Amino acid sequence: MKGHVDKAVAGLMALLLILWLAPALALGTAQASEDEHDHSGVHEFHETMEELGEHTEQIVKAINHEDWQWVAKEARAIAEHPRPPAEERKRIMAFAGDRRAEFQKADQAAHAAAATLADVADTGDGREVIRAFADLQATCLDCHASFRDDFRQHFYVDK
Ligand code: HEC
Repeated sequence: MKGHVDKAVAGLMALLLILWLAPALALGTAQASEDEHDHSGVHEFHETMEELGEHTEQIVKAINHEDWQWVAKEARAIAEHPRPPAEERKRIMAFAGDRRAEFQKADQAAHAAAATLADVADTGDGREVIRAFADLQATCLDCHASFRDDFRQHFYVDK
């Protein structure tokens, strides 16, 4: 049991490290294009992503405070995040092309994982919360691995 917990904790630490390092690493390369491009075509989507990032940071804090209600609140905000306006969704779907189903599935996976995290947080079982949070982060990571570079290339570089 202890080894299992240690593993879960080690996994979380690795994730947290990624969470903290990724923006710093991305800054060097991404900042330039951030400044040059105004996200005009997909502004709301971009804002939503920044909000998701903030909610996950709040979840880390809430876990550290063992405030499970706070975790649940942040997780629900992720699960119920507003969709971008129809115009943007159309653009994003056009970008996804024949990978649209994959994109939508990744989106649904993140919503589902966030809803699960909220439910688990309601039970107040810290260890399960950490596990559910790791599952949520994995859904973010998966979609980013599949789409983020292409998305940025499509909307921010090739304008
Ligand atoms: C369905 C795909 C998908 C899912 C799921 C997803 N993202 Fe993203 N995310 C993207 C794409 C595409 C970009 C690049 C768009 C951009 O930077 O404007 C991005 C960019 C980001 C950024 C960078 C914004 C910036 O300022 O450069 C953050 C932070 C982020 N996502 C957080 C999250 C978090 C946290 C989750 C999970 C709770 C998540 N995302 C889930 C597709 C996704």
